[in-house]
Formats: sequence, C-alpha cells, structure tokens
Amino acid sequence: MRRLSFWIALAAMADTAFSGPIKINWLGEAPEHHTGTTFGLPWPQGEYRFNDTTFTISGQSKDSEQIPLQSWVTGYWRDGSIKWTGHAIPPLDTIEGEYRVSASASSPSNPSDGPSGLTVVDTADGISVDTGKLTISFPKQGNSVVGSITTSSGKVVGENGKLVLHTQSGVAEDAFARANTSIDYLNFQSNILDVSVSSDNSVRALVTVRGKHQVVDKGDRDDWLPFVLRFYLYANSDSIRLVHTILFDGKPEEDFVTGLGLQFDVPLDGEEFYNRHIRLPGVDGGYLHEAAQGITGLRRDPGEEVRSAQYEGKATPNVSTWDERVSSRLQWIPVWNDYRLSQLSPDGFTLKKRTKPGQAWINIPAGTRSSGLAYLGGATHGGLAVGLRDFWKKYPTGIDISNAGASKGRITLWLYSPEAAPLDLRPYHDGLGLDTYEKQLDALEITYEDYEPGFNTPYGIARTNEIFLQAFDATPATDDLALASKYIDEPPVLVAEPAYIKDTKAAGSYWALPDTSNPKSTTIENHLDFLVRFYQGQVEDHRWYGFLDHGDIMHTYDEDRHTWRYDIGGYAWDNSELSPDLFFWQYFLRTGRADVYRFAEALTRHTGEVDVYHIGDWKGLGTRHGVQHFADSAKQVRITQPQYRKYFYYLSGGDERVGELLEEALDADKTYGILDPRRKVRGDGWTPEPGKPVAFSLGTDWAGLAAGWLIEWERRGPRWQEAKRKLTGTAQGIARLKNGFVTGEGLYAITNGTLLPPPTDPDNQGRVSVSHLSAVFGLPEVVSELLEYWGDDAPDGLESAWLDYCYYYGATREEQNARYGDAFGRLNLVQGHSRLTAYYAKHRNNDTVAERAWKEFYINRDGLTADQPWVSGRVNGSAVLTPVDEAPWISTNEAAQYGLAAIQDLALVGDAVTKSSYGTS
Ligand SMILES: *[C@@H]1O[C@H](CO)[C@@H](O)[C@H](O)[C@H]1NC(C)=O
Ligand SMILES: *[C@@H]1O[C@H](CO)[C@@H](O)[C@H](O)[C@H]1NC(C)=O
Ligand SMILES: *[C@@H]1O[C@H](CO)[C@@H](O)[C@H](O)[C@H]1NC(C)=O
Ligand SMILES: *[C@@H]1O[C@H](CO)[C@@H](O)[C@H](O)[C@H]1NC(C)=O
Ligand SMILES: *[C@@H]1O[C@H](CO)[C@@H](O)[C@H](O)[C@H]1NC(C)=O
Ligand SMILES: *[C@@H]1O[C@H](CO)[C@@H](O)[C@H](O)[C@H]1NC(C)=O
Repeated sequence: MRRLSFWIALAAMADTAFSGPIKINWLGEAPEHHTGTTFGLPWPQGEYRFNDTTFTISGQSKDSEQIPLQSWVTGYWRDGSIKWTGHAIPPLDTIEGEYRVSASASSPSNPSDGPSGLTVVDTADGISVDTGKLTISFPKQGNSVVGSITTSSGKVVGENGKLVLHTQSGVAEDAFARANTSIDYLNFQSNILDVSVSSDNSVRALVTVRGKHQVVDKGDRDDWLPFVLRFYLYANSDSIRLVHTILFDGKPEEDFVTGLGLQFDVPLDGEEFYNRHIRLPGVDGGYLHEAAQGITGLRRDPGEEVRSAQYEGKATPNVSTWDERVSSRLQWIPVWNDYRLSQLSPDGFTLKKRTKPGQAWINIPAGTRSSGLAYLGGATHGGLAVGLRDFWKKYPTGIDISNAGASKGRITLWLYSPEAAPLDLRPYHDGLGLDTYEKQLDALEITYEDYEPGFNTPYGIARTNEIFLQAFDATPATDDLALASKYIDEPPVLVAEPAYIKDTKAAGSYWALPDTSNPKSTTIENHLDFLVRFYQGQVEDHRWYGFLDHGDIMHTYDEDRHTWRYDIGGYAWDNSELSPDLFFWQYFLRTGRADVYRFAEALTRHTGEVDVYHIGDWKGLGTRHGVQHFADSAKQVRITQPQYRKYFYYLSGGDERVGELLEEALDADKTYGILDPRRKVRGDGWTPEPGKPVAFSLGTDWAGLAAGWLIEWERRGPRWQEAKRKLTGTAQGIARLKNGFVTGEGLYAITNGTLLPPPTDPDNQGRVSVSHLSAVFGLPEVVSELLEYWGDDAPDGLESAWLDYCYYYGATREEQNARYGDAFGRLNLVQGHSRLTAYYAKHRNNDTVAERAWKEFYINRDGLTADQPWVSGRVNGSAVLTPVDEAPWISTNEAAQYGLAAIQDLALVGDAVTKSSYGTS
C-alpha cells in the first residue's frame, strides 16, 4: 500500500509541471477589439509567495508587444502561498490567440515604477484619473457621480454624470383609475456619500462611488435606493467599464420605480446642428445614422460631398461651399432635439424622435433586439458612447438622447425605462388567508409555496448592471461603434486551460476534464452537453429575461401547458435550488467553454443579487424558489451559499461586487438569532434569541456558513481570523459529535464560534437525523475543499465523520443499523449522492464502493436515468404560444444533481465505470 501511494505521488508530480509559464487564452474566439481586462489565475500550493513573486505576461510571436501586467493576490493557501491571483492588462494593439503568464521568484518591483499610463490624483474635492486616452473626474460630494470626461486632446465629451430615478407612490390598477390624482410622482438623483480609489493603479484604477438617490425639489423624503458604482479604468484606454449596483430599501406598496438611469451632458456648443450626430443601436451591429439637422433627402441637394459627410459622421464641407439653395434655407429645416429608444420587451424595441417638448413624437422604423450602445456627439467636438451589457435581455431598458439642438445635449441610459409600466415589487397574492403555520404547511402541499405573511418582501434585494462608456474626439465610424457593441455583452476575458486549473487544485479536486475514453463516459459527456444546451435554449424559448429575472432559470416544467411552472408557488424561479450554479461552473471548469461561462456568469449575477438580502435583519439569507424571487418565506443560508459565487469570484480576478457579496455572507450566522429556518417544523419548542446559541443543520446551514468562512480565510479578508476560528470551532464540534454529520443538527454558539451537541441530544449520546437536502447545497464541495485546505491540520475526526456520512447515506439499512443503531429511512436524491459514495471510494481506495457509486448513479428513483430520451422535442403550432423545445422529463433539481454527480463520479471513480456492471453506452 505504502509503496503504491509513493509511486502514485511521484507520477502525480511528474504530471504537473508547474514551473513553466502558464498558458492562457481568450474565452471563446480571440476578440478583434480590446479595451483592457481583468482575469484570475490559480496557483498550486507551496509554489509562490506574495512578497517574492513577480508576474509577467507575454505573447507568442517574437515581436509581441511588451504588455504591462498588474497583479494582486485574491486567495492564499493555508501555508500563505498564493492560491489565486488577479491580473489586469491594458488595451492591446495586436491581439494574439494566447499568452503566457510567468511567476518568478523575485521581489515585485514597486508598482509605481511600472510602465503605467495611469495618473490618479486624489484630493479633498475629488479624484481624477488620466488613462492617457481620457481623463475622468469624480467629485467627492454632490449629485454628479462623474464631473467630466475629457479626451486626451482636451475635448470635454461628457459632464455632470448623474444617476436619475423616477418613482410614483401608487399605480393606477386600470386605465379608469388614472383619473385618480392622489398618486405622487417623484424625481431623484444621485447623492454621493463616499468616493475612493484603489491604491495600486499601475494598469487599472478602480474608483468606487457610494451614495443614495436624493429627491429633487421636494424636501420631505429621505434619501433611499443606495447605489455602488465601480468605475474600472485601464491605462491607455478610451473606455470605461462601470459596474452599477442598487439595493432596494423602499416599501413595495409606495415606492414604485418608474425609471432608473445614468445620464451625461454632452457639450455641443459651437457645433453646427448638421454636424451633431446621433447613433442609435439596432440589431447585430446596425446603427441609425442621424444628425440633429438632416441635410439629406431635401428638395434641393447641398452636394454629394456634404450629404455623405453627414451620413458618415464627418464635418461637412464649409457651408459657404454648399449649393446656396440649401445653405440659404437652413433655418427652415427642423432640428430634432430628442430621440428615444425603448426596449420594453426582449423581442422588440421602438424608436421615435421629436423636434422639442410640446410637439409630437414621430416614429422611426425600429427592430427587435438592440445592442444597447448609443452615441451622441459632434463631428468636431467629439462625443460619448454609452452602452449597457445585455441591454435587451434586461428589458425594459432604453436610451434617450435629448437637447441635441441645445448647447449641451444629453444622453441617458435607462436600466429601467420610464416608458415601461412601473417596477411592481408588491406580493403577487393577498395572503390567501394563510395566517397560521398549519395552514401554510397545508398550502405547501398543493402549490409548493412556503408562504408566511410579511416574508414576501423585496426589502434588501439588489441588482447589478454593467455599463460601458467610451470617449471620442470626433464622431466615430459606425463600424467602430458596431465593433464596440459586439463586445459589451461578452467582454473579452482571459482564462487558464482546464487542465492547468485542475492540476493546481485551487478550484477543488472533485472535477476532471471531459472523459470520452470509453463508450459509457462518452454517453455521460453527451448527456451533460445536452443539459447545458437545453437550459441555454430554454432561456430563449421561455424568455427568461428582464430587469430582475435575467440570469435565473426555472424549477419545474408543466407538461400539460407546455411551459415552465412560472405561476405555481415553489415551482417557478429556481433561486439556486439544488445547486445549478455549481453544476454550470464546474462544467465550465472542465470544458473551458465560453457559452457555459457566460451562462454561469449571468446566473451568478442574478442569484447573488436578486435572490438574497443585502441589508436588514435577513442580510446574508436568500429566498427559496418561487413565483417572485423574494416571495417565499423560507429565508436561508443555503441560497446565499458563497460557494455558488466562488468560482466566478476567483476566475474574474476577484470581481469586487461579488467580493462584497462574500463579505455580506459573513454575517449570516447572526440571522439565526433572529429567524429560525426550521420554525414551522420544529417540534422541540426552541425559539431564537440574538447572541444565544442556536440549533442549526449540519448540512444546508453549516455548508453555507463554512463556505463563507473558508473564502474569507483564503482571501485573508479583514475578518479572516474570526472566520477561521468559527470554521475550526464548528468543524471540531461536528467531529466530536458521536454521530458526526449523521447527527443532522448542532447547537451553534455565535459568541465563541463553537458547536455543541443539538438540544435534542445534549449529552451527545448519538442522534441520527439525515436529510436528503443536507448535501445538495454545496456541502460536498465545501468539505472537500476544506479538508484539502487544512491538510494535516484538519480537526481530528472531521475527515472520518465526512467519509462516514458519504458512505452511509446510500448504504443498506443493515449497515446503517450496525453503525448507528438506527436506519436513516427512505432517502431521496440517491443519484446526486452517488458523488458522496464516489468520494468515499476514492479516499478509501475501495473498488466495491466505487461500483456502488455507479449503481447509485445509474439505478435510482429520482434521478435522470440512461433510459430517458436525452433529446428534446419541438412543440409548435396552436398548442403553444410560441414554439418551444420540450423535455418534460427534466426538472432543474434533477438536472443540477445529475450534472454534479456525473462530473464528480467521473473525476473520483471514473476508472470504475468501464468495469461497472451498471450503465450502458
Ligand atoms: C509582505 O511584506 C510586507 C512588508 O514586509 C508585510 O507587511 C506583508 O504582511 C507581507 N505580505 C504577505 C502576504 O506576506
Ligand atoms: C387613488 O390612489 C391612492 C394611492 O394609490 C389609493 O390609496 C386610493 O385608493 C385610490 N383611490 C381610488 C378611488 O381609486
Ligand atoms: C466657412 O467659410 C467662411 C467663409 O469663407 C469662413 O468665414 C468661416 O470661418 C468658415 N467656417 C468654418 C467652420 O471653417
Ligand atoms: C462557547 O459558548 C457556549 C455557549 O455559551 C458554552 O456552552 C461553551 O462552553 C463555550 N465554549 C468555549 C470553548 O468557550
Ligand atoms: C470496501 O468496502 C466494503 C463495503 O464496506 C467492505 O466490505 C470491504 O472490506 C472494503 N474493501 C477494502 C479493500 O477496504
Ligand atoms: C412543427 O414542427 C414540426 C417538426 O419540427 C414541423 O415539421 C412542422 O412543420 C411544424 N409546424 C408548424 C405549424 O410550425
């Protein structure tokens, strides 16, 4: 045995050549256009230390440009060596297909000595950043989150950048009720509370602006709707990436958001009306080409050169050279001041313009899905382009261009269009008389909604959007705008290869590369691919888009109606139920597929923001699946589960918004002193009290808290020692329980971060309580990563407690009885749990148990089995509203758990599948 493991260890060392440079490539195709990017890289334990490692990046060809690289550490191994790094590179002139990043053991040079093009000036009044291509200023107080944007030639192309918010105090329930004049309409604008800038700015500067929306003109309203704006500025870049987050802290019955936007003034003084250009985005790089005062199509021709200059966005020849029949009559040609693009549905946008307020709007032929990047500016003065990532997917969105004929034009990007019906965050039903736990539990039996009065609140949910700004010295060719618009939905990202990520173990050791070495594993790979493509298609077929909804998927299908159960209690929005987030991210890690990354990224941006609470008593808790993302009364850590955000956090180079979500999760343990997740089913009479020990589950609850603590420890965040203490204390507590994880519940003391036996078994005699849900919200991933992180330092007995849980969940009644003096009862989700069996088999090197894992994977009551069709069918014609691909045998619970079981079984006991007597190819 000993000899064998020695040789295995040696072979493993030979396999993993960590010394050389790391090959990285673009996610998907190499982009044609690049404005600076940030990316993350993993490193094996024990190789590099923060203070004596220098990172460099190089292209492949021998005349590759020298690329400046800013590097920072996002995660550490237990021994203090580097686990994950973040890196930023500036825009590239020539874009190569792949690059190499080298880590060498030498003290990093002082970042300020670097080849930076960035100048950051931080004063009492504000911060300004000069990228070399533009300068942007950020006042530290007032209403303008951006003072001005100036090009390197000194042209101010944007100023007075503000957030705007419109609300109304009620909604007319029908057209008749619009005669009711008691509805108040309010206007708000950004009010700055805090502005800060990153300290290392050699390639990338990050300016963070925090504030709230402040009422305009009416004094009697508190500031509300907090925002965080993160401006990412790269050396030598003429573009700005802005990550915009809002938090809902209003009352859903009184604070209806009717418009939410970002607005800039664009100076146009001195630019002739006919040289002021409006570029509004259509479909697939299409653009509307207009000037405030059009001189084409007139009865008299100013001259071909004049017309083509205007169309192309160039300054026209001097008006003195035009045909005089036109130049003498310019005053009779209307100036169009205002343009409005409204994407109120994912299927179509409308366009209109008017000469000025008080005059009629004229429709402009429009299209389906606007790319969302617009421009306003002048041929000689230059201008500003503003765009929103996933513009049509986040409907109702819009773009307004106004005052194009004034000395300052204005461009407003609407994250929520004022042309749409108000954002309605009220509950979708009136409570149905569900005023006792008994009735609520009975209702759960029919609609599967876990309702409770007062719990269906959006107070504390958030939404994050990504905005793109670009400064131009002159009106750009529409081809240039089209190129930029192509990348706002899928900004170029660099990634390491799956094999390298796997070998570092920094993203866990429970997944492996796709395995097509034998017919059985090939079938499983095909099934995984099918599931991923199926969900991608369902998003489109069922229009899972919208301001709040985009990114989420649904829980269960309704075969009769050929639709997902969007209107049925606990079957509608999925809210991370049974970990689809883990499935899509792990599937990305092993395949490196761009489509999977983008899908998982949108899911993470949704589930991390909309499905969880960021302020208030429930900060750190998320909401169970439901018809509205916040409707259900089950508020739990299992939905906030930081493990769901972890892969994106590290792969993105430490996305600062997601980092903030990970910090918020650290306070989730406090909520147990206020809200008992098991209040409706608890039989022991226990009630929570802040600061007092709480009984919580060793599965869903501990897994969520432990993941957050481990990430904080890895990041060496400000609270990492507290996190490590709580993690160690609770893990020791679990290890000391007579039945370990099988105990099901423990008493957690928040004051000292320890875990005692549960109230039902204070003397630790050995309670047996196993739930099918315990290990399907990240517990296996978290424990596996945790045990590796700790290595020899893991609390005594933790590994064996986990291996016992892994073995006995799917063991026979007899085995359970023999080990625990009790059987676990009839447990579901056997397929998903086959990965626990596989984990045991791998760690105990036991072929018999490996075979059991494959049996559980293939033969089970509630998983996706090989005899299912594994194809979808088209339903069309009058049977459905719009044609859909349908696979009614799929539920998201099963898809997610099938995916995780398949990925992890192949990684842990893949060799045993060929020998297994179960499964077919
Ligand atoms: C790096 O060195 C500095 C200065 O000696 C020290 O303060 C810092 O803690 C070190 N960082 C790490 C991660 O070791
Ligand atoms: C008018 O609107 C207010 C505010 O939404 C509401 O309270 C009131 O009931 C409405 N009155 C009528 C007659 O609809
Ligand atoms: C156009 O030509 C006139 C007459 O030659 C001249 O006065 C004026 O400055 C020119 N305008 C521009 C913008 O060059
Ligand atoms: C932690 O707190 C609990 C509850 O107050 C207490 O019972 C336990 O003894 C404490 N443990 C340690 C190690 O202080
Ligand atoms: C493997 O596990 C089975 C089932 O628990 C057990 O009977 C057997 O002894 C184990 N084999 C080895 C080699 O440990
Ligand atoms: C429905 O789909 C089937 C199979 O793809 C196709 O043959 C048929 O023409 C479609 N019918 C309609 C009404 O689109």
